[in-house]
Amino acid sequence: MTIYAIIGGQWGDEGKGKIVDLITHLYADNEEKKIKYVARYAGGNNAGHTVQVGDDTYRFHLLPSGILHEDVINIIGDGVVIDPRVLVEEIEGLSSRGYRCDNLKISEKANLIMPYHIILDTIEGGKVGTTGRGIGPAYTDKIARHGIRIGDVVDENNELDEQTFRRKLEEILPMKYKFLSNVYGSELEKHGIKLPKLEDILKEYLFHVDKFKDKVTDTSSLLCKAKENGDNILIEGAQGTMLDIDQGTYPYVTSSNPSLGGIFTGTGVSLVPDKVIGVCKAYATRVGGGVFPTELKDEIGEKIRERGCEYGTTTGRPRRCGWLDVVALKYATRVNGFNEIAMMKLDVLSEFSTIKLCTKYEYNNGKIDYFPSRLSVLEKCRPLYEEFPGWQEDISSVRNYGDLPENAKGYVYEVEKFVGVPISVISVGARREQTIIRGY
Ligand code: IMP
Repeated sequence: MTIYAIIGGQWGDEGKGKIVDLITHLYADNEEKKIKYVARYAGGNNAGHTVQVGDDTYRFHLLPSGILHEDVINIIGDGVVIDPRVLVEEIEGLSSRGYRCDNLKISEKANLIMPYHIILDTIEGGKVGTTGRGIGPAYTDKIARHGIRIGDVVDENNELDEQTFRRKLEEILPMKYKFLSNVYGSELEKHGIKLPKLEDILKEYLFHVDKFKDKVTDTSSLLCKAKENGDNILIEGAQGTMLDIDQGTYPYVTSSNPSLGGIFTGTGVSLVPDKVIGVCKAYATRVGGGVFPTELKDEIGEKIRERGCEYGTTTGRPRRCGWLDVVALKYATRVNGFNEIAMMKLDVLSEFSTIKLCTKYEYNNGKIDYFPSRLSVLEKCRPLYEEFPGWQEDISSVRNYGDLPENAKGYVYEVEKFVGVPISVISVGARREQTIIRGY
C-alpha cells in the first residue's frame, strides 16, 4: 500500500491537478499500484485545478482531480468547505460531458459555505485579495462553532433533513444578520447587497443538496477501511504551503491548512504518506495581496505571465510572477517533509537567455538563507539571485530527461541541490503526456 500526498510548495496554482491525474493514470492498469482513492482535505472552491486530457480541458474547484477516473473513489473530506451551488454546477458540468460522478463521496462533517459568508468575504476580503468565495468566513464560523455541516442538511439515511437545517438557520442567521447590519450596514448599502431571507436560503440549499445527498457519507470511516484494506490512496492538496493559515505568509493566507498537517484533521484518518510530493513551478506566482519576495514588476514578469498563461482559474485575475524562490521552497520542504518535487512549466522559461534563482535574502545589510516567519522581517527581505544560462529552445516535446538541453538539466540540478530533494517529475506542457518522469 502506498499513500501519496500532493502538496503545493508555493502560493497555490502550482499544477497539482495535473500530478494527481498523472499518478492516477500512470498506475490505472497495474492492480497492485492502482490508486483506489483520491481525497481532498482542505480549502473549497477558492481552488482551481486544471486537468488536460487529450484536447479536453477540465477545471475543478471542488471536485478532486481524480474524478475523471471512474473506478477511483473521489472524496471531498471533512476539512473542505462546500458551496452546494458550485458543487452541483461542477457535477452537472461533468455529467454533460459524459461523467456521472458515481465515484464521488462527500463528508458529512464538511462545513457549508452560506450566502452570508460570501457577503462578508466581499466586504472584508479586499486587503488579502481573497477569491471572494466565502472561504474565510466559513472557516471562521466553523472554528467559532457557528458552522453548518453537510450532515445538518442530510440525515443518516441520505434524506434531506429540513428540520435540523431549519433549526440551525434559526439559531445562526439572526446573529449573523445582526452583526452584518450593525457593523457593515453602510457597506451593504454601498454594494446594494440584500440579506437573503431564511426561507429563501432554506429552499435554495435544499434544492442543491438534494442533487448530491446520496453521495454524503462518513468519509473518515471509508478512508479508514481503505487503509485497513491496504488500498493505495492519493491525497490532493489545494492552495499551497505559503498560503497555509499557520505556516504561510500570515495574514496574507487562506483560512485552512493546505500543508501536510491539514491531512489528518481534514480526512479524519491517520494517513501518514509514504510519498510526499511537493509541487512547484519552475518560477513563482502569487494571486492576491501579500509579500512575494521574487515578484517581477517588469517586462520579464510580464513575459512569464503571458508565456505561462498566468491568469487565475477561479477568478481570472492576472497572477503576480517572478523567479523561483528556493529559500521559500526549502521552507515548504521542511514544513511538509517533501520526499520529492514535481517541477511544473519548465517550458515557460525556454524564452529566457538568463534564468535567475533566489537562493538567499538580503536583510538588514546582511544575508539570510532561511524563510523568516515574521512578516515584518520578510517584508524587508530583498532577493539575492544566482544566474544560470537559459536554453532558448522548445522543450515541450521532450519526454526523456536525457533529451533536455544541457542548460535546462543544469537548472533542474541547481534547484535539487539547493532544496536537497530530488525532482522526480518535470512538466513541459499542459497535456498529460507532456511530462518527463524520472522517479517512477
Ligand atoms: P481565500 O482563500 O479566498 O480566502 O483567499 C485568501 C488568499 O489566498 C488570497 O490571496 C487568494 O488569492 C489566495 N488563494 C486562495 N486560493 C488560491 C488558489 O487556489 N490558488 C492561488 N491562490 C489562492
